[in-house]
Amino acid sequence: MTTILLTGTPGVGKTSVAKRFSSIYNYKYINLNEFSKKYIIKYDSERETYIVDLDKVKDELRKITENNNYIIESHISHFMDGDFVIVLRLDPKILMERLKIRGYKKKKIVENIEAEILDVCLVESIEVHGLNKVYEIDVTNKTIQEICEDIFRIISDKNYRKKFKPGNVRWLEKYYNLMSNLRKNI
Ligand SMILES: Nc1ncnc2c1ncn2[C@@H]1O[C@H](COP(=O)(O)OP(=O)(O)OP(=O)(O)O)[C@@H](O)[C@H]1O
Ligand SMILES: [Mg+2]
Repeated sequence: MTTILLTGTPGVGKTSVAKRFSSIYNYKYINLNEFSKKYIIKYDSERETYIVDLDKVKDELRKITENNNYIIESHISHFMDGDFVIVLRLDPKILMERLKIRGYKKKKIVENIEAEILDVCLVESIEVHGLNKVYEIDVTNKTIQEICEDIFRIISDKNYRKKFKPGNVRWLEKYYNLMSNLRKNI
């Protein structure tokens, strides 16, 4: 059985892609944000987030995923156990527009754009799983269907997956100026 962990900065398209992927291929879908709600420990009012018992979530998921193929998506899915960790990467300028449309506050937009430029999900994924399991897809200008096909080929074709090894996406080179003026530009 195969478990795919789909991760990336909020807004890159994880939910859209994972739902489509599970409808095309023989994979069950889990939205980890929803799933984790059963394991909330407390509310952190300063950070405006819920604190979740991630070890418990991980244990539960380990049991559930034993007998089927799963695609698990969330910006924290890379903290779970899995066979492949796929990080979706999106051009920060396009991501910024998506987050503005969502009505995110300026502070939250800045945090997320910085996280995308600085490869936060990718780096965390490598820290947790090592280099061998982690792949990144630049989804900029790709359709959801094309992204699903990329994911399928990554998990099933050893040669194809090589071009998705970490290191191909380098937003900082492209957006050094945007990064340094981010707070002024929004
Ligand atoms: N490949 C794509 N091309 C064009 N639009 C896309 C694509 N993927 C996602 N979108 C759009 O971008 C928006 C964000 O997508 P989605 O909600 O799937 O992101 P997410 O990564 O799940 O975000 P979050 O982490 O906040 O849950 C949606 O409006 C979706 O329709
Ligand atoms: Mg989502």
